[in-house]
Amino acid sequence: MELTRPIRTTQSDPPSSGEVTPLDGDPVAERFHFLVNAPALFNAVVTAVEWDVFRHLAEHPGSSLEELREFTGVPAHSLRVLLHAVCTTGLLERRTDGTYQNARAASELLAPDGPDSWRHILTGWKEIYYPAFSQMSQALAAGTNTALAAHHGDEPTLYCRLAHNPELEAVFHRSMSAFTLKSLDALVECEEFATVRHLLDVGGGDGTTSNRLIAKYPGIRSTLFDIPSVAQLAGSSDAGDRIQLLPGDLFKDPFPTGVDAVLFSHVLEIFSGDQITELLAKAYAVLPAGGRVFIYGYNVSDDETQGWYSARLSLYLNVLASGQGMAYPAGDYEEWMGRAGFSDVRTLRGYPYEHGLTIGVKP
Ligand SMILES: C[S@@+](CC[C@H](N)C(=O)[O-])C[C@H]1O[C@@H](n2cnc3c(N)ncnc32)[C@H](O)[C@@H]1O
Repeated sequence: MELTRPIRTTQSDPPSSGEVTPLDGDPVAERFHFLVNAPALFNAVVTAVEWDVFRHLAEHPGSSLEELREFTGVPAHSLRVLLHAVCTTGLLERRTDGTYQNARAASELLAPDGPDSWRHILTGWKEIYYPAFSQMSQALAAGTNTALAAHHGDEPTLYCRLAHNPELEAVFHRSMSAFTLKSLDALVECEEFATVRHLLDVGGGDGTTSNRLIAKYPGIRSTLFDIPSVAQLAGSSDAGDRIQLLPGDLFKDPFPTGVDAVLFSHVLEIFSGDQITELLAKAYAVLPAGGRVFIYGYNVSDDETQGWYSARLSLYLNVLASGQGMAYPAGDYEEWMGRAGFSDVRTLRGYPYEHGLTIGVKP
């Protein structure tokens, strides 16, 4: 991935260490210096979100340290340390008079509070994803999701274990729903849905995707299939009878008949190639001739060298969520669809957040 703008390790010029090495100006070295400090800086940004610093500065640009101290109620020294950390990321700017303002990206990404807010995403990553990554070496060496031991229960995946912890499950789905809202437009805008009448939304989560699709296409109704505790979350939406909930396990329970399209959105990447083949065969079996299957989600680049979001997701899946799966390259999904019997298989590529949409038709 090309760095369009090098990330500076220091704000001063030349670097404050005064050290001149053959790597000076090397964008990979610059990224390295940012990367090795990123876990601390990530947490600093989340703390600033939790303390509503970005929201406050969006409303009161040019607040002083004292004004921010009064607003946050935290000790002045702690706030000074935090503001410095966030300033190093560029998300906050300190003016020459010592007051603070948001960078444009902070105002747009971190100040808003709606259902698609980054604050929900970052909270989920802080509370669920990133603690698990300290187990990365053990989990990858063992070839299984050893970090799952931190979550109560004996089920093999995080999705099922979260049912034991409704509070954390709500954090998880709020985070996932916010990210889904950010990445969903390309899927919803796909005109293929205009002719769908009855969609099976497999692993449909809290209903975010189904809700957006039925809002855009008045002719669609959706059957949302997910584990019982999650289908219950979707039950709180106000879609009326256009979304029908079907609680179950997607490997143990049958898919319903009577649908003319099956959607796997952010679902197949959780599983192995064999399991994906099994799920695609189940979708094929319930579709009529002409019925379509849609796979939406992250795709690593074909040469498997690009994609920060995909890399994070793949690691999370293997270390914590399911112990397998990855943000497969689109070609893998195309091959598995073909193997399941689908024809006219193609992928719409290049969507935001490294997303692709692979479509197949039952002949
Ligand atoms: C990453 S989320 C995707 C949610 C939604 N489709 C979206 O795009 O936002 C994966 C979903 O698959 C569901 N899931 C995982 N394993 C499952 C299983 N064995 N049976 C049914 N649903 C499952 C999870 O509960 C979760 O809601």
